[in-house]
Amino acid sequence: MISRSKLSFPSGAGHQNGDWQLLPLKTRDFQIISVWTREWMDPLNPHVYELTKFSCPGYTDYIKMQQSSLVPETILLALYAGNDIAAFAEYSLDEEKLFVNNFAVDARFRNRGAGRAMLDALEHIAQDQGRPAVELDCFVWNDAVLHMYLKRGYLVTSTSYWLTGPNPAAAFLPSEACAVYESASSEDCHNRYGFSTLRLKVNGADQAVFRLHERYFRIVSGDNPLSPGLLRALYSIDPGRELFVISKQPELAGNPSFQLVSASVRMRLSLS
Ligand SMILES: CC(C)(COP(=O)(O)OP(=O)(O)OC[C@H]1O[C@@H](n2cnc3c(N)ncnc32)[C@H](O)[C@@H]1OP(=O)(O)O)[C@@H](O)C(=O)NCCC(=O)NCCS
Repeated sequence: MISRSKLSFPSGAGHQNGDWQLLPLKTRDFQIISVWTREWMDPLNPHVYELTKFSCPGYTDYIKMQQSSLVPETILLALYAGNDIAAFAEYSLDEEKLFVNNFAVDARFRNRGAGRAMLDALEHIAQDQGRPAVELDCFVWNDAVLHMYLKRGYLVTSTSYWLTGPNPAAAFLPSEACAVYESASSEDCHNRYGFSTLRLKVNGADQAVFRLHERYFRIVSGDNPLSPGLLRALYSIDPGRELFVISKQPELAGNPSFQLVSASVRMRLSLS
C-alpha cells in the first residue's frame, strides 16, 4: 500500500503555504492546455509538440465541445490559487485504471508542491473509484520528471518510439481496394479542429488512422510491421502526407528513411 499525504484543498486558500483549491478546469482556462504543453515541451525536444493534437489550431474548441457532452471522454481538473490557475490535469477512467493524459504546473508555480498535490488528488480519485492503478506516459527525455514518478513508486511497464518519414508506398502503386467511410464527418472534424480520424476498409479489414494537421497520418503499429496494404491505401488518399508511426521498436524494418523523434515510457502505480 502506498502511503500518501492527507488531501487538503481548502476553498480560497492562498498558494504561498502550498494550499490549493482543486476544481474542474474552468472553461476560460481551456486555452492554457496547449500553451503550457508547448512551453514545457519545446525547450526539451522541439520536434514533439507538432506531433501532438495540442498543437492543432482547433484544439481548444475541440476540448470545449468534448467537455460539453453529457459524458465527456476525459475529465479536466485544476489547482487554483485564488483566481490564478497553478496546475491542470486531464484523465480518463477505464475498468483497469485511471490514465493521466496530460499534466502540468505553470512555470511560475513550480517547486511549491502543486505537482505533488495534483498527483495525490489523481491517485485518491483512482482509489475512490475502485481502480487498482494509475498509469501515464512520460517522455524519456523528460528525465527529471521521470525520476519524480519513479521516486513516487511508479514503475516502467513498456516503451514506445515515435518515428516520422515519407510514406514508402510511393514505390508500390497502384493502390489496394480501399473505401473511406464517415468521410464527411471526418472532413468536418478536420476543418474545425485540425485533426481527425479516418475510418477505412482496406481489402475488407477495418482500419482507423489519425490525421494530424495537413502533414501526417498517425499510425499506432505496436509490435506489428507496417501493413503495405494500409500504406498503399493512405498513399492513394493523400500522397503528400508523411507518416508518424508509434511503434514498440526504435526503427522500422526495411524503412531506413524514418527518423526517431521521441520515445516515451508507460508508467504504472499499483494502488493495491
Ligand atoms: C512535473 C511537474 C508537474 C512537477 O510539479 P511541481 O509543482 O514543480 O512539483 P512539486 O513541487 O510538487 O514537487 C513534487 C516532487 O517532484 C520533485 N520534482 C519536481 N520537479 C522536479 C525536477 N525538475 N527535478 C527533480 N525533481 C523534481 C520534487 O522534488 C518533489 O519531490 P518530493 O515529493 O520527494 O519532495 C512540473 O515540473 C511540470 O509541470 N513540468 C512540465 C510538465 C510535465 O513534465 N508534465 C508531466 C508529463 S508526464
